[in-house]
Amino acid sequence: MHKTIENIRDIVRNYVCEKRFSHTLGVEKEAYRLGTIFIPEKAEKLQITGLLHDITKNFKTEKQLELCREYGIAVDLENLVPKLLHSKTGCEFARRTFGENVVDDEIYNGILYHTTGRENMSLFEAVIYLADYIEKTRDFKDCIRLRKYFYDNIENANSYEDKIQVLRKTMIYSFDLTIKNLIDGGKRIDKDTINARNYFISCKDVFKN
Ligand SMILES: [Fe+2]
Repeated sequence: MHKTIENIRDIVRNYVCEKRFSHTLGVEKEAYRLGTIFIPEKAEKLQITGLLHDITKNFKTEKQLELCREYGIAVDLENLVPKLLHSKTGCEFARRTFGENVVDDEIYNGILYHTTGRENMSLFEAVIYLADYIEKTRDFKDCIRLRKYFYDNIENANSYEDKIQVLRKTMIYSFDLTIKNLIDGGKRIDKDTINARNYFISCKDVFKN
């Protein structure tokens, strides 16, 4: 049975803290809004993915690792980045909670790659990634900067192709900001993030496959 968005919202609320829930609702709205610009026929599906994307974010690292074992997800313990675990566990947790009818492969991958991005990422995945970065409750200076960059430029883009190029440049800018922060904090940079940045720089003809 297909669960309504309201049902999903009520269930997600049980798994996250209040602050995370506000962010979740922000991503739900932003994903829908970006969806109407880029993939109107999937706007509702993007909304659902926004609701689900952080479903395991408040789980402790120990619980994340336990889920990884249960789901058969390989974890590099030596180079563990706890912040990235929730994307890996979240997609599978959401699928097991809501079923494959709700969490199909597109939603699954939207959750899986929402933190790092990846090479050849789909338009659907890019919308979720960006929605997570720029939704309204985000007040980190880079989020504000990226939100402004995207909306200032999208306003002046007339054709669909121009809008896609605004998205492509916004993605590059987001990876630049993320990578700079990771370097400043002396942290590891995930390979998928580097590959995603290089992909958007090299490939101007994005989202065609
Ligand atoms: Fe998020």
